[in-house]
Parts: sequence; structure tokens; C-alpha cells
Amino acid sequence: MTESSEIINTGLRGVPVASTRICLVDGQNAKLIYRGYNIIDLAQNATFEEVVHLLLFEHLPAVDELDYMKQRLAEECAIADEIITALKTRPADASPMDILQACVPMLANHDPEATNLSAEKASDTAIRLIAKFPTIMAAWHRIRNGREPVSPDPSLGHAENFLYMITGNRPDAEVGRFMDVCLVLHAEHAFNASTFSARQVSSSRSHMYAAVAAAVGSLSGELHGGANARVMQMLLEIGSEDAVEQYVESRLNSGGKVMGMGHPVYKTGDPRAAILGPMSKKMGERVNNTKWYELSEAVRKNTQEVFMRLKGTEIYPNVDFYSATVYYAMGIPVDMFTPVFAIARVSGWCAHVIEEQFAGAAPKPVLYRPASEYVGEYCGPEECAFLPMEERQ
Ligand SMILES: CC(C)(COP(=O)(O)OP(=O)(O)OC[C@H]1O[C@@H](n2cnc3c(N)ncnc32)[C@H](O)[C@@H]1OP(=O)(O)O)[C@@H](O)C(=O)NCCC(=O)NCCS
Repeated sequence: MTESSEIINTGLRGVPVASTRICLVDGQNAKLIYRGYNIIDLAQNATFEEVVHLLLFEHLPAVDELDYMKQRLAEECAIADEIITALKTRPADASPMDILQACVPMLANHDPEATNLSAEKASDTAIRLIAKFPTIMAAWHRIRNGREPVSPDPSLGHAENFLYMITGNRPDAEVGRFMDVCLVLHAEHAFNASTFSARQVSSSRSHMYAAVAAAVGSLSGELHGGANARVMQMLLEIGSEDAVEQYVESRLNSGGKVMGMGHPVYKTGDPRAAILGPMSKKMGERVNNTKWYELSEAVRKNTQEVFMRLKGTEIYPNVDFYSATVYYAMGIPVDMFTPVFAIARVSGWCAHVIEEQFAGAAPKPVLYRPASEYVGEYCGPEECAFLPMEERQ
């Protein structure tokens, strides 16, 4: 490395990569907009199926369009027997996100038109993927526990069906709606890491399954979708409110992260957390156990105080902070929290793949090819001399 070389790792923060009509994340004003609609409005009034239509077809559905969307999702939610058979060969302790990522190319194997990259086919492929994600994850959860998968019930909504396939019981209306709202809140978030992965894979004209498999891998990391599971692990580790102060102090003083706090874009609060906080409280009350909600509130307050003292700035809970305790109260296993995120976000990934291929502001898809700064050997005038094997140390 030469002395003048500067190590850079921008993470593409603040670098506009492409124009999009799908989503606006307004970090300064704590606003999230899907195709012009405020997330608060959507969470209060729309179902996940309506949001899927909005994201894929650029407008809220009319009655007949919504009926058709529900019908298509119901028709497509079953998965091939060969995929169930393959799931039965996996070790029971495999990560559900690894299982999900591995299943996506298998879905391609069972779609004879997977490589048909026409615009007409793209929305159909998107609906297939969105329909099948809950079925795969619920089937995996049952198989790893030595039980047979529960077939989807086409009469249930998308969110209710997921809870039904996991537990074998139809959820009551309020819990079903809470899960539905969670899916609405997680459906889309502009150029986050996983969506960027999907778009950049898609930019090489790979099929939608390849793009979505890459996005699942990206979402699995603890700084992205994996944070919701890490929040619950943190709360379980802290255990009681007496231990909060010491935990937060030692985390922040040692440069560690308090999971579920902070966001790369929202600097004045995450609007999704404003909906999930009260939901977490209500879910706790429903199961007569508000301990985890209350503990999370203690962690939030403490983190905000210590953060202000140490860094002189605010920090806010993000979407993962309260969704963790919502899912926990619903009885969803901790390692299935990130798959729930994926079940929602696959709709956003697919919308972005379609935009990348067909509806982008650019006249035609552009192969992503960012620049890098080489700081390895031969930064100066001399190249390395190639040494024969016997002369190498
Ligand atoms: C999401 C995240 C990666 C964003 O990080 P970021 O873009 O660096 O955020 P900021 O630029 O606002 O960070 C400013 C400072 O606060 C620190 N910080 C941010 N979030 C923090 C957290 N949760 N705990 C402790 N410190 C945190 C950063 O390390 C940085 O410190 P520095 O100035 O000493 O380098 C970060 O907040 C984080 O790791 N949160 C926990 C994981 C999580 O919840 N992820 C889900 C995101 S939706």
C-alpha cells in the first residue's frame, strides 16, 4: 500500500444509485411512503394483500383487483412435494434463513417459466414468490420439530395463513390483524441492503428467483433483518429491569451495539416503531405477560439517556425493537423472526426487480458496476515479480 492511499468503505451511504417510484424513506421527518401513501395510513387501513398490489401494480387495488390478488396468492401458496422432501433432509438446527435462501432456487426449478424475463411474467413470478414464502417457513418449522406441514388454508388471509400453518390453529381476528400490520410495515424500505442486493443481481438480467435468493442472504445479517431476533436474545439475556442499567452502560462504554436502536437513515425516529410499540403492549396484555414489553421500554429509555450522555445525540428504536416482543408474545420462535421480515419484504424486493428491469427511470436496465479503490500491492511503479513455486516462502 502506498502512503497516499486512503482506506475507504462508504457503504454507499447517501450515494444515489438509481431513481425509484416505489418508496421514500424521509429520515429527517421520520416518514415512510410507499408509492405516495404514508405508512401510518397504510398500517391503519390497508391489508398486506392491498400493499402487495400497490407495490407491484403501482396503485391501490379496486375491489375486483383485490379479489384477484387474494385468489392468485391462494392459488400459488402451496409448494411442490419435492421441496417438502428436500426440507426433510436438512439438519433440524439449520438456520431458517439459510433454509429459506436455499429454497428460492428450488422454486425456480419448479417454475418452467423462471427464465422468462418478460414484463407480463414478472408480476406473476412475484406473486408466486410472495405466496410461497410463508408456506416454506411454516413447513420448515414443523418439519424440524418432527411434525408434518400444515397445508395452507386458501380461505385465510396471507398473515393469518402463516400463523395457522406454523401453529396448526387459526388465529383470532385481532392477532391475525396484528400480524397483517407487521407485514405491511415490513413490506418495503427503499434501497436497504437486501433490496439493493436484489436490484444489483437483477441488473445482470438474472431471473427474479436469483435476485430474491441474494436478498434473503443479505437480510439474514444481524445489522439488517437479523436484528429483530438479536433484540429478543438481548432481552432474554438481560432478564429483568434491575439488570438493564448495567447492561446498557457496559454495551455502550465498550463500543458495542444495543440491538434494535439506531438507524442509518431515520435520525428523528422510525415511524414503524411508533406503531409497533403500542402493538407490543397490547400483545403482551393479550397473553397476560407484559414483562418483555416493559423490559424493552426500560432498555430504550436507558439507551437514550446513556447515548445522549456519551455522544450528545439522540437515538431511537427502529422497526426491529418492538417487532421482537410482538412476535414473541404471538408464540413465534425467535429464530423465525427474521423469516417473518422476509415474508413481508419479498413483496418490496419483487417490486424493485420489476422496476429495475422494466420501469426504471433509465431507458434500459444498466448493469451495476461500482468503482473500487485498489489499495493492495503494486500501488506504486513496480508490479510484483511472479515467483515459481519452489522460490515462494
Ligand atoms: C443500524 C445501524 C447499523 C446504523 O448505524 P450507523 O449508520 O452507523 O448509525 P449512525 O451513523 O447514526 O451512528 C452514529 C454513532 O452511533 C453509534 N450507534 C448507532 N446505533 C447504535 C446502537 N444501536 N448501539 C450503540 N451505538 C450505536 C454508531 O456506532 C456511531 O458511533 P460512532 O460515532 O462512534 O462511530 C446501527 O444503528 C446499529 O447497529 N443498530 C443496531 C442493529 C439494528 O438494530 N439494526 C437494524 C436496523 S433497522
